[in-house]
Amino acid sequence: MPRLLTLSRAARLVGIRRGALQSRIRSGEPGDAAGLLAWLQQRLEPVAQGGQPLLEQESFLRIMTAHVQVKPSGREFFVDGSDSLLEAALRAGLSLDYGCSIGSCGKCKARVVSGQVHRTHHSDYALTAAEKNAGVVLMCCNTALTDLVIEAREAHGAADMPLQTIDARVKSVSPLGDNVRLLHLQTPRTNRLRFLAGQSASLSLAGGISASLPVASCPCDDRNLQFHVRRRAGDAFAERVFGGLPGVESVRVEGPRGTFVLNEDSHRPIVFIAGESGFAPVKSLIEHAMALDTAETLHLCWITSDRHGRYLDNLCRSWSDALDNFRYTPLTAKDALSDEHALQGLLQPLLQEQPRLADCDVYLAGPGPWASAAEFHLLDHGLPRAQLLVDTLES
Ligand code: FES
Repeated sequence: MPRLLTLSRAARLVGIRRGALQSRIRSGEPGDAAGLLAWLQQRLEPVAQGGQPLLEQESFLRIMTAHVQVKPSGREFFVDGSDSLLEAALRAGLSLDYGCSIGSCGKCKARVVSGQVHRTHHSDYALTAAEKNAGVVLMCCNTALTDLVIEAREAHGAADMPLQTIDARVKSVSPLGDNVRLLHLQTPRTNRLRFLAGQSASLSLAGGISASLPVASCPCDDRNLQFHVRRRAGDAFAERVFGGLPGVESVRVEGPRGTFVLNEDSHRPIVFIAGESGFAPVKSLIEHAMALDTAETLHLCWITSDRHGRYLDNLCRSWSDALDNFRYTPLTAKDALSDEHALQGLLQPLLQEQPRLADCDVYLAGPGPWASAAEFHLLDHGLPRAQLLVDTLES
């Protein structure tokens, strides 16, 4: 039985009188949710409008939330309304196998072990009779009608991500402070970039101008790819972006690449340390970690040489305001990125905090020499190597 968001809305929708619902709630045993749901289901099942069972109608699906468990990993997610299983899984931070998202490639096959699905989109991909008999469905074309257990393939790390080449539309170029631009690319609806949070992609313009940049957005929005482009001497790609990319309609995206990804099997507290625009892959990791909601605490430490360098300071503060388990520490020191002693001074308080850094997973991203110095300092203070992941950006 699907979980109902509000019983009174459900009752209104299907024509059960509010009074009847209230008297059923009053007459039931306290806490007897199962009995109440069974009563409601009895009244829903026989009803059909226009030949379609009520439980499958769009208006009814809109008010439901169903729980899905994925085997063999045991990961779980909820499907709201008539969202596809694939959309809901991506939003919850799962890395399920998929391709086109529109029912053409067959890569998002999953076997329904228990529960019922409802097809919401037409698919061109033809499942075999044997697959249909085995309960195989396409996750991009089906939603959950009831709670489900499904078997599906999941990516377990960067090695499971296929290299893709996509021509993406330039949606916008906008300033993030004086020295950084937000490049927003949008992939075609039918050819999205499948990647893990924290990974990078190569971006190429006509004429052989290219750059390798971390994706700054979350894999849960695989169509809208964001990149933080920093202006650097001799960087032709950045110059073009700072010029606004006039006349450029698309950028070739090749990726994903890199192993700066979240260890999803760990439940240790997480500390993110970003230096300057090392914030870009860290942002993607944080958004993914929030979607997964498995880490006990998330602590972001963003180090810049002046406060204007923290070009998304308000976003970080809004995370901190909204989430009990998220802490944000902005740190500024004029020479933090060039002077090892200044960096040590900034990191020192972090090393003395609770939970102890040695009990955390640490994700460190920033310009090359700075990241190497910070890495050395953290390891020197007892952080286990296996709990530190470093993304070194071109400086
Ligand atoms: S992702 Fe291609 S058929 Fe579902």
